Amino acid sequence: MQILQYPILKLPQILARRYNLVMSNTVAFKETLLSLRDIHVHYGGVKALDGTSVNIDEGEVVALMGPNGAGKSTILKAIFGLAPIESGRVYWEDHAFTPVSHEVVHRGISFVPQGRRVFKHLTVYENIEIGGWSVKSNKERKERMENVLDLFPALRAKLKAKSGTLSGGQQQMLAIARGLMTDPKVLLLDEPSLGLAPKIVKEVFAKIREINERRKTAIIVVEHNLKSLLEITNRAYVLDKGKIYTEGRPQEIISTGVLEKVFLGKTY
Ligand SMILES: Nc1ncnc2c1ncn2[C@@H]1O[C@H](COP(=O)(O)OP(=O)(O)O)[C@@H](O)[C@H]1O
Ligand SMILES: [Mg+2]
Repeated sequence: MQILQYPILKLPQILARRYNLVMSNTVAFKETLLSLRDIHVHYGGVKALDGTSVNIDEGEVVALMGPNGAGKSTILKAIFGLAPIESGRVYWEDHAFTPVSHEVVHRGISFVPQGRRVFKHLTVYENIEIGGWSVKSNKERKERMENVLDLFPALRAKLKAKSGTLSGGQQQMLAIARGLMTDPKVLLLDEPSLGLAPKIVKEVFAKIREINERRKTAIIVVEHNLKSLLEITNRAYVLDKGKIYTEGRPQEIISTGVLEKVFLGKTY
């Protein structure tokens, strides 16, 4: 009775999929692509995630917020098989799985870690090409490269440049472009705005929005400033000490003053 594990609201989706039913177009069911349920992660004596549950639906942009050390990066790493999950389960389209990096890529998840880790001594072209390591066919890899470059004309203009010569904003774009080469259904972005000037941050977030709109990629983005995400985020989670403090629409979260409380320790 696997079905009993799921909330009753999800039954129509699950049954429709199981029996291959076409759902009425008038009822827009969004599939949940990925969910973490009650995840616990420790690093030695440090509790990084303490019963954390997070999910993302098709086409959503979800923000993870919280002070330093709250566990945001650990959530992304747990999804990508890079954090030691002690208990709790990760589900991909309702099926529990144990995340292991190379398998996660095949499922359709891509991770762009914090810190724009581009290979500085390699060209822009080579950096993007490396992102397609899992694609066996050369033709397919080239097609993907073209599709990705359509989103990043500034990178197309610099394909032969060494990546180390790019500006910080361009290197961030390059890291994201590389992450798209696996054609992910879910893209995990850890602090893409870190260390960038406000104007460049705007450009990066506009690009994230464009990726979501044009490719329908669901995106989980770790970000400090929720206001800069207002226009692109459907939902946000606020974490503190490895627990989800609250979850909701960004505007609701801002209006409740939760962020000040979590970030600055203010009490109301
Ligand atoms: N590799 C690690 N070894 C030991 N402790 C770690 C490691 N990675 C993260 N931590 C600890 O786990 C907690 C959560 O870290 P992290 O997920 O990086 O937080 P955030 O991304 O929200 O800043 C912090 O207390 C951090 O010091
Ligand atoms: Mg982090």
